Amino acid sequence: MTHGFPTLTAAEAANLIKDNDVIGFGGFTPAGSPKAVSREIAQRALAEHEAGRPFSIGVITGASTGPSLDGVLAKSDAIKFRTPYQSDPELRKRINTGKTQFFDMHLSQLPQAVRYGFLGGMDWAVVEVCDIKPTGEATLTSSVGASPTFLHKAKRVILEMNRRHPAALRGFHDIYEPEDPPTRTHIPIYHASDRIGTETVMIDPAKIAGVVETDLDDEVSPFDEPNEVTIRIGENVAEFLAGEIRSGRVPGDFLPIQSGVGNIANAVLFAMGNNPGIPPFAMYTEVIQDSVIQLMRAGHIKFASGSSLTLSNAVMRDLYADLEDFRGKLLLRPQEISNNPEIVRRLGIISINTALELDLYGNVNSTHVMGRQMMNGIGGSGDFTRNAFISIFTCPSSVKGGKISPIVPMVSHLDHSEHSVQVIVTEHGVADLRGRSPHERANLIIGNCAHPDYRGLLRDYLKLGGEAHTPQSFDNAYALHRAFLAEGDMRQAAITGA
Ligand code: COA
Repeated sequence: MTHGFPTLTAAEAANLIKDNDVIGFGGFTPAGSPKAVSREIAQRALAEHEAGRPFSIGVITGASTGPSLDGVLAKSDAIKFRTPYQSDPELRKRINTGKTQFFDMHLSQLPQAVRYGFLGGMDWAVVEVCDIKPTGEATLTSSVGASPTFLHKAKRVILEMNRRHPAALRGFHDIYEPEDPPTRTHIPIYHASDRIGTETVMIDPAKIAGVVETDLDDEVSPFDEPNEVTIRIGENVAEFLAGEIRSGRVPGDFLPIQSGVGNIANAVLFAMGNNPGIPPFAMYTEVIQDSVIQLMRAGHIKFASGSSLTLSNAVMRDLYADLEDFRGKLLLRPQEISNNPEIVRRLGIISINTALELDLYGNVNSTHVMGRQMMNGIGGSGDFTRNAFISIFTCPSSVKGGKISPIVPMVSHLDHSEHSVQVIVTEHGVADLRGRSPHERANLIIGNCAHPDYRGLLRDYLKLGGEAHTPQSFDNAYALHRAFLAEGDMRQAAITGA
């Protein structure tokens, strides 16, 4: 059955977009992000700039995207403002030189911020689907993100119909949009696997300007192989959690896990899968990455709820080959449900995220290098950390060949405060901060987690703080950062007065 909507080329679709339009692009991470219309919008921007005319758009997404969206649009200077998250090197450059205005948001809040009108109006939704019916009923592809909200709120809609994803994905999504206050009720999820919504999104057919046919892989970058440091971090997290089960603080059949993205997160999941003290577990997370599928095949993960299948092409192909084996074991939800604080607290989720930098008292910086340069954004780390049963942050004890200690006297930017951060893990060990005062926290973090090269400097800092509840020295709080900026090595820091 044909869908009956106008079929457009990507260039024809891009020609509908005007300078200054605000576009909600579907997808979540490169999974399910549009890949064709965005490329043509970038071409258009280049042509308009060449002709001496302004052309830039507001870009709102679910999370990060791939090179065919953020990458090409940034390179052609076509992005006026951007929210809520990104991880593209070209875009990052423009954000950090002030060319693109970037607003870093908790991912669970993005859809409601769009509905509340906090981000202004939305001219277009550009969303990837694998099936569309004449009624406007559509099946999304490898993610949900904020697409249901964009499709509701945007004035007009362009669909990318991507044949690379099978229409049999129908049934892997659970689409649910909460009411807005004052009529919002509780979200009825009591187990990671509960379904509460519909398999498809309903789009007002009158809003659909056209459908662009594509056949394109998601642009997910492969992970590095685990190394000695990430393997140790993974084992330390797994052993800590196995100990929590042995002590009875965590139920014997375990609790749902949220895991961040990246190389450390991958190593942590593998270590948990291999630890005999951890039973097969469920994930209630944001991003389902390769390791989850591999651990599911091995029987270590029994169910995964997330907002995207952020899988390398090889793992995605294998998954699609065995799709029916995974039906009922994978569920893709809107990001305001996958990351919802109410559900995180109710299910007792154990959150595991990566810190860029953390301080002696357990404050965490996830976003800003040296306090100034945006890396990616807070993503979902705050949604989970603030409400977790146990919140864990991991990081290596040193980076850049030992020249930087991610453990510093005072973070240069704050994303997660000491009130939300409970456990710190590096390759050296675990600092369990629950029920600990600032003095006790600092001693645990230095003794168990800091790199040996930095323990002396950090202890000197602590001594300077004297009898305070939270020892601090304004003269020395950024001594390590200052040494890196001046000498290229934090080990050159002088803690004065020590
Ligand atoms: N100062 C300066 N640079 C630092 C640093 C610090 N304190 N700590 C790490 N880095 C550098 C690393 O050396 C690396 O640089 P390189 O790419 O030049 O080698 C880079 O930052 C990223 O580190 P990497 O080892 O690749 O870590 P990662 O892929 O695990 O990412 C974060 C770490 C913090 C950037 C990433 O987890 C993130 O963006 N988190 C915020 C969002 C989030 O938590 N999302 C998940 C929630 S569901």
